[in-house]
Amino acid sequence: MKIAKPFTRAKRKQLRTPSHQPAPGLKILANAEAFCLATQWIAGYTEKDCTMSTLKGPTLKGPTLKGPTASSQPKDGPSPTCMSINGVSYALPNDPRTTLLDFLHQNLALFGTKKGCDHGQCGACTVLVEGERINACLVFAFQLRGKAITTIEGIAKNDELNPLQSAFVKRDAFQCGYCTSGQICSSVALQKELADKTPSAVTFSENYSAREDISERMSGNLCRCGAYPNIVDAIEDVIALEPQ
Ligand code: FES
Ligand code: FES
Repeated sequence: MKIAKPFTRAKRKQLRTPSHQPAPGLKILANAEAFCLATQWIAGYTEKDCTMSTLKGPTLKGPTLKGPTASSQPKDGPSPTCMSINGVSYALPNDPRTTLLDFLHQNLALFGTKKGCDHGQCGACTVLVEGERINACLVFAFQLRGKAITTIEGIAKNDELNPLQSAFVKRDAFQCGYCTSGQICSSVALQKELADKTPSAVTFSENYSAREDISERMSGNLCRCGAYPNIVDAIEDVIALEPQ
């Protein structure tokens, strides 16, 4: 039987000393690529998809990038390496750690979506993904490849305000206005939820009232100015116009 020799003192010392040199032949991944590989489970990406997303995004140079990276929405839907924002197709950002909110601000100069807490607590950054509301600060842009996103800049159609936008103005449903884009995007999604008959936490309550239902559904959107009664009034106005 072959017996392994104990390590020499010099070898033991070498093993105790942390080495900052990579072992020969070991491939060290770039930070972005390593992050991509570590997070690909989030959206079921393959390594190739992630690498493509890091290669094809716009560089971080601000608003001037919108021109070269934006293209009209292709007829057969957004490209798998792009996302559609308000009907315009954009390449995914270079850095896979870029949140959708930062992508909107830093790459596309779309500042209508607001950053409040940056932690998913306030709803100021609410946008619509395929008609459903999400917090743009809580999702990486690359997770939304191929998706259609609507921000507050895309809510009005052909210079005509969405009825909810008009109702917010009519009802004076804001003071500083910082939360308003999130409130309006959220209320647009709320309309769809009602149309789809998606229940809320109070739908089956004994003392159900439409007003309470609206408040409950809008509870993810905070308003530091306390414009809540007027916000609910505005939404109620529009929902009353909806066919039941
Ligand atoms: S900024 Fe996203 S929830 Fe507050
Ligand atoms: S209007 Fe000021 S935070 Fe809502």
